[in-house]
Amino acid sequence: MAKEFCISKALAVGTVVMTMSAVGGIITMAIIYQIQIAENEPTRPPTTLPTTPIPTGPPPDLRLPRNLVPESYTIFLRPHLYTEVTNETNQTFVFTGNSTVTFLCLKKAGSIFLHSKDLDVKNPVLMRLDKSAILKVKLNFNYSTVNETNFLEVQLDDGKSLEPNGTYSLFTEFEGKLLNDLAGFYTSQYEVEKDNETRYLAATQMQATDARKVFPCFDEPDMKAVFRLTLIHREGTQALANWPPEASSGTGIVIDGERWIMTEFKPTKNMSTYLLAFAVSDFKPKLKPGLERDIKVWARPEAIDAGHADYALSITQNILEFYEREFEVAYPVGKLDQIALPDHAAGAMENWGLITYRESALLFVDGVSSSMNKEYIATAIAHELAHQWFGNLVTMKWWNELWLNEGFATFMSYQGVKDAEPTWDTEDLFVVNEVQNAFQVDALASSHPLSSSEEEIQTLTEINELFDSITYSKGAAVLRMLSQHIGQTDFKNGIKMYLKALQYTNADQNDLWTHLQQVVDKDSNGIKEFMSSWTKKAGYPVVMINTTNGEISQEQFLLNGTWNQEVIWHVPISAMAGDNPNLLKGFLLKTAGPVVKTEMKSKEWILVNYNCTGYYRVNYNLENWQRLIKQLETDHHAIPPISRGQLIDDAFNLARGKYVDVTLALDTTKYLGNETQYIPWEAALKNMEYFILMFDRSEVYGPMQAYLEKQITPLYKHFENNTMNSTEPESHTAQYAQLEAVSMACEVGFKDCIDMAKWKFEQWRKTGTNSIRPNLKSSIYCHAIAAGGVEEWEFAWEKYLNSTIATERDKLRYGLSCTNHIWLLNRYLQYTLDYTKIRRMDTVSTINYIASNVAGQALAWDFVRAQWKYFSVEYGEEIMFLGSLIDGITERFSTEYELQQLKQFQRDHTEDSLNSASRALEQAIERTEANIKWVEENKATVLDWFRRESKRP
Ligand SMILES: *[C@@H]1O[C@H](CO)[C@@H](O)[C@H](O)[C@H]1NC(C)=O
Ligand SMILES: *[C@@H]1O[C@H](CO)[C@@H](O)[C@H](O)[C@H]1NC(C)=O
Ligand SMILES: *[C@@H]1O[C@H](CO)[C@@H](O)[C@H](O)[C@H]1NC(C)=O
Ligand SMILES: *[C@@H]1O[C@H](CO)[C@@H](O)[C@H](O)[C@H]1NC(C)=O
Ligand SMILES: *[C@@H]1O[C@H](CO)[C@@H](O)[C@H](O)[C@H]1NC(C)=O
Ligand SMILES: [Zn+2]
Repeated sequence: MAKEFCISKALAVGTVVMTMSAVGGIITMAIIYQIQIAENEPTRPPTTLPTTPIPTGPPPDLRLPRNLVPESYTIFLRPHLYTEVTNETNQTFVFTGNSTVTFLCLKKAGSIFLHSKDLDVKNPVLMRLDKSAILKVKLNFNYSTVNETNFLEVQLDDGKSLEPNGTYSLFTEFEGKLLNDLAGFYTSQYEVEKDNETRYLAATQMQATDARKVFPCFDEPDMKAVFRLTLIHREGTQALANWPPEASSGTGIVIDGERWIMTEFKPTKNMSTYLLAFAVSDFKPKLKPGLERDIKVWARPEAIDAGHADYALSITQNILEFYEREFEVAYPVGKLDQIALPDHAAGAMENWGLITYRESALLFVDGVSSSMNKEYIATAIAHELAHQWFGNLVTMKWWNELWLNEGFATFMSYQGVKDAEPTWDTEDLFVVNEVQNAFQVDALASSHPLSSSEEEIQTLTEINELFDSITYSKGAAVLRMLSQHIGQTDFKNGIKMYLKALQYTNADQNDLWTHLQQVVDKDSNGIKEFMSSWTKKAGYPVVMINTTNGEISQEQFLLNGTWNQEVIWHVPISAMAGDNPNLLKGFLLKTAGPVVKTEMKSKEWILVNYNCTGYYRVNYNLENWQRLIKQLETDHHAIPPISRGQLIDDAFNLARGKYVDVTLALDTTKYLGNETQYIPWEAALKNMEYFILMFDRSEVYGPMQAYLEKQITPLYKHFENNTMNSTEPESHTAQYAQLEAVSMACEVGFKDCIDMAKWKFEQWRKTGTNSIRPNLKSSIYCHAIAAGGVEEWEFAWEKYLNSTIATERDKLRYGLSCTNHIWLLNRYLQYTLDYTKIRRMDTVSTINYIASNVAGQALAWDFVRAQWKYFSVEYGEEIMFLGSLIDGITERFSTEYELQQLKQFQRDHTEDSLNSASRALEQAIERTEANIKWVEENKATVLDWFRRESKRP
């Protein structure tokens, strides 16, 4: 899946908790096939372990027993829904179907356990294929209601059993609901602009564990099989699935007087259940004429006609072929469909051959979408295409190694984007988006290792919690470090071998290390040792360097709390000095005690971990810090931009961890008046955001605002011509820097900026023509609405309701959260309970936007507490939903009172389903405690510093 980033940070993936359709108890089988039961009992082969009783009862944990191995499924599915409701049809949100799974028995068993959830399953027929015998079976659903197993037990008649080496098939019929729950087989709807009518479609989202909501299956990633799917869909609709349709497919049939099409798809390769996908809609495709390969982008017909799919289509082929060249394994599907769904739980989902996206992750609208939207689209496509190899072709054995999927897809996506958009400085963006992002979460004591043991990841909640920044960003960051450490060529050759050797099967990290090791040096164990220190333990080190005596050492970096002496990482050290750009390369620090390295001495400044290729922070002796800061102030170009950003980010975080004084961190921002590059500004502003969150309700805010205004003004002026004339700076990152300038200048109340925002917004209101450049829209909407009143708000709300363009709606939705009027914010919060106003997938980010507004903070917290029952019922099973919500609304918490409220909230909800929020709540409590301490310890110093530095010269 693609993680959501950009404006909205929430990764919202969804399911509704439904009460199991009450099928409980035992349903006796109905015989469907008229096949004679073999006269004689099948003769039992001599068993080597005659004393072993036939296993009965459910497995001891939440995993399926491994005695049965699925080989193939033949599935028929018929979604009854109409894409268009007329006065002659009644909408029905139901699908019906049947499925036959063929499997091999490895160990004798009296029951078949597979997964089924929220399905009405009936009429099971079990056959022994190699003996053409039907075996009497009954269904047992008991286990699904007892705990989270979702097990469907098919019991054989007393005394009967499945025999080793026997091949069996199990047929079931079933019925399920098509809901707007964004999980399993779900519906989505959209408005057609030209006649204002509603259209419906049905699509799927199986990851992580919702294939079981669509048909009974062995729903675990290593239980790969071949899928033969037939969709029976209404005439006039289009059916898509992972593999292309059979040539002869698409026959019309009549069922109960209604006309249907039967589309049979080619059998897939061996693949995991979570990668299955299909969609039935009235969408239209966009394709490049004359292409050898069948690559299409599907979307609402109006969006296709308006050219919104053109950008996605223009880069897809390049990126796909780039990966084929890199990996030397051909893409095996024979076609590639990408579809933009009006409702999508994640940003996108990598289903083999049919990738699904939310509209804002696939549709680019010229003149409306920003550079950030464009980057999001390119990144999402590159991420999902990388999954076609990392995840689809070679899959992790179990969810505990999800990072092998997501870390690789994230890491590779930057190379894919670089190939498609060579001017974008993707290397720099990697550091900001992934490394620094992972550093934040991984510095908390409640962080978790990239890879845990299989036993630790059992429940749905435990699986869902893994879709986080550690898995995606830390995963990518440590892979980048490894590729730098062993060299990019060896790295590439190693992953080629890994992909070839393990294609169509499953792998764990040891498989990866083994293949990489083969390329580097067969006889060593170095890669496994090196990487285990990063993947098996939570957290990361801070490397401490004394440039006067050359001593270096490491310890765990934690924002708050005590570190563990035992934890030692293998840290690749690189360094440059003011008088020697090649000071040190390739030194591996493997001990915790002090180590003397003579090269690390210099009278000039020394900079370690340049370009931040290592996943660690660096602390220096005070003299060296001062030399570095002096260098920034005299000529910052001597230090590369990524490292300038990293120095700022390290200094601020080291200050929070009490390694250095907070004034030293603040001193790294004094040169920013001369800085025009995006990366250092991004690092500075991200850290300043923390100061703003901590102090925007206190007396520190005045002097801090004055200082920030003084520093941001030159950057604002640097881009002022562009901003006023609605033109764009040339480079991708310069466009981001312009956005930072405008956002921060307006946020700290710089009058020119606010006047500009008000004026541009007013022009739009007056003339009806919106001339605000896409890049600045979210910021200008926000500050114009903040400075305005109810008219501005209503105007934007109206525009929001009437726009069909997802990226424009997102920008307005954010802007609306910026008002300072309490009653407007309260009403806006209420709207999040109504899917016709705020789409389900946008609920969390909308509430979090409101909470990030200082005027909305307390309102959002009260609102979430008041509605907690509703949220936990509606969204309890969604990946990250409740977690992101808790994380977002508590970000500013820094008082004892707020801490007590949080703890009370935790106590109030230990009994009921705190679900996926429990870890987030712990993190929020830890963070609040750290914030309280930090504010206490630093407030006076910070106030002093800002008072001193905000004075204009
Ligand atoms: C799930 O429920 C079954 C049946 O009560 C029980 O035997 C099994 O131990 C439970 N599994 C877990 C992990 O709680
Ligand atoms: C359904 O609507 C169409 C078009 O509005 C109209 O011509 C037709 O008579 C209606 N049918 C019924 C049964 O009301
Ligand atoms: C739609 O449902 C209503 C109410 O159940 C029923 O009266 C009507 O006949 C149905 N119409 C069609 C076209 O099935
Ligand atoms: C499964 O469903 C399809 C489509 O409705 C039907 O043609 C087929 O006969 C069914 N299979 C069995 C064994 O009933
Ligand atoms: C199953 O088949 C394998 C290979 O054909 C054979 O070695 C094994 O003995 C068989 N096991 C049983 C229980 O028949
Ligand atoms: Zn992914």
